[in-house]
Amino acid sequence: MKPHLELAHDLWRSRVLPGDLAIDATLGNGHDALFLSELGCKVVGMDIQEAALAKAKERIGEDKIELHLRSHAEIGSLILPKKPKLIVYNLGYLPGGNKEITTVTESTLSSAQDSLDLLNCTGALSITCYPGHDEGLKEEEALIKWASQLDPKQWSVCHYRWLNRLRAPSLLWICGLLP
Ligand SMILES: C[S@@+](CC[C@H](N)C(=O)[O-])C[C@H]1O[C@@H](n2cnc3c(N)ncnc32)[C@H](O)[C@@H]1O
Repeated sequence: MKPHLELAHDLWRSRVLPGDLAIDATLGNGHDALFLSELGCKVVGMDIQEAALAKAKERIGEDKIELHLRSHAEIGSLILPKKPKLIVYNLGYLPGGNKEITTVTESTLSSAQDSLDLLNCTGALSITCYPGHDEGLKEEEALIKWASQLDPKQWSVCHYRWLNRLRAPSLLWICGLLP
């Protein structure tokens, strides 16, 4: 298996076309959003930290991303020009920032569910989990339980993980099957 971010990027590339709308629900330093922008997506980014938005704006360019200083718990209230083709989460804390400010299970779960309701019916949801810290492990377990119960006629659900490195990052990939 490729490193988790490389795998995620391959899956994203396979799903979007130039002009598609993508949401980065954990914008952080903007690396993922930059990748999406370079694929030709219109990108909307959300983060609860001003510092993250500033970094991402500097990295991508203000004209190439729409920024929201808002929790992804409010993803359902975004006013969007069309249905997103891809929504991505890279959970945890801001690299180089305050490790106390991290995504948490309850809001991640409700946001993930809202994301499925928002997506284009052939769209996809990508969630990178970090079970190497306590809250991250709780988040991963809760997400797997939730995702395992999604209707298989509507969603294809895969969890990519290393079997002999249980604390390594993993990737949850959920994509729509309806025409
Ligand atoms: C691992 S970083 C994301 C890395 C980023 N995707 C990149 O490419 O640089 C996780 C980010 O999630 C943000 N975050 C934590 N809780 C959040 C929430 N409820 N809503 C939105 N962002 C949140 C943190 O502030 C942090 O910047």
